[in-house]
Amino acid sequence: MAKSDKTAVRETFSSGLAVFFATLGSAVGLGNIWKFPYLTGEYGGGAFLFIYLLCILFVGIPIMIGEFYIGRKTRQNPVGAYKQLSPDSYWKINGFMGVIAAYLIMFFYSCVAGWVYFYFFKALIGDFSSITMATAKAEFGSVVIGPFAPLFWQFFVLTVVAAILIKGVEKGIERITKTLMPVLFLLIIICDIRALTLPGAGEGLNFLFHVDFSKLTSVAILTALGLAFFKLSLGMGTMLTYGSYFTKDNNLFGTASKVALSDTIVSMLAGIAIFPTVFSFGMEPSAGPGLLFMTIPLVFSQMPLGSILLVAFFFLTSIAATTAMISIVEVVTAYFVEERKMNRTKAVVINSLVIAVVGVLATLSADKDSLLGGMTFFGKGFFDWFDYLSSNVLLPVGGLLIALFIGHVTKKQDLKEELSNQGTLAIDFIFEAFYFIIRYVTPILLIIVFLNAIGIIKV
Ligand code: TRP
Repeated sequence: MAKSDKTAVRETFSSGLAVFFATLGSAVGLGNIWKFPYLTGEYGGGAFLFIYLLCILFVGIPIMIGEFYIGRKTRQNPVGAYKQLSPDSYWKINGFMGVIAAYLIMFFYSCVAGWVYFYFFKALIGDFSSITMATAKAEFGSVVIGPFAPLFWQFFVLTVVAAILIKGVEKGIERITKTLMPVLFLLIIICDIRALTLPGAGEGLNFLFHVDFSKLTSVAILTALGLAFFKLSLGMGTMLTYGSYFTKDNNLFGTASKVALSDTIVSMLAGIAIFPTVFSFGMEPSAGPGLLFMTIPLVFSQMPLGSILLVAFFFLTSIAATTAMISIVEVVTAYFVEERKMNRTKAVVINSLVIAVVGVLATLSADKDSLLGGMTFFGKGFFDWFDYLSSNVLLPVGGLLIALFIGHVTKKQDLKEELSNQGTLAIDFIFEAFYFIIRYVTPILLIIVFLNAIGIIKV
């Protein structure tokens, strides 16, 4: 999907498999390996997981199909797409909201990706060779608080992402994802096997899979919903932009279900690696954003070839985070290039600078002991606000607008024609089910979660 500002006709991914892997490369990232486990730990395990899965099924997959539809039909960036489908309307605001959300996500995502790169580097020089539970915690603390090392790695991450985006080597990304994603998958399974054979592993599994609804709060429900959006890269135009590079014969229902399923499997496997370890070492599942960084070095320290596997793990996680970031910054880049007629390199450089400058605030407020850790507004620091506003507000609101646009503004006939690839796919039943869900179920669920979160109704 090489694009330069001069190409008039948009190129597309080379094949169905390429579509699948590129989309998966966007979905699989820190959301699976870092965010999913720590939020599940913080919000009590099984019940949170259950709500999360419901959100994937009834909100995530339908909205992903909706974004694919808008993107492939218009072959545009999010703002241009709404302008084309609904000229002179306010719908393009949804595209702008996506651009804002992309910035907010990048402010903190680049910080966490920096920690991952740094852990890769530390693993490489053998820093974790004598790690114990006590030092694992202290190690993470010092990495996060920094302040110079985390800032250095954050800028390094942003430079890598910018360099890849400027070169426009998306073909290369296709290839990287295709070969490295399966390796990451395998490594997580090795982690799982090791974690499951630790003494007391059963307790971790019980935590992850035992559904106890009494632990659910309205914040937990909203967070599970936000996580579903974040995980599947939905609600801000990433999947819309990727859809604009899909081939005309791609089965959008098939791609959305396969991506959602694979992404969920990767998240679950990460959970199965982490929770048994947490319980086996007597840590707190609610340890927060450091959970991944405190547990994984311990898992590998306990096994043969552990130090090599640890390097590989953080290397592949860095790659997964990088391909996800590319899909986020691409949305902003496509907007500046296509709507503002900016040169691609200039767009990437300006965006990266903005992200780097504001991103400093996230990095310096990631922990309560960080330099700006004490600076809170309504109980949250910068890092938490960037995360909260994007995942729990902008993405779900963007998702609601997409559902309403697809279910109530788009003509049913147009939708069916595009989703059935001009009638070449037999999708009657599945189309009707999808149409019903996105028209009624998805928006109603979203509205219930919002009203519940602001305390107007109580479920
Ligand atoms: N899904 C990615 C992850 O799990 C992050 C991501 C990429 C994203 N593109 C997005 C999140 C768009 C929200 C919106 O790490």
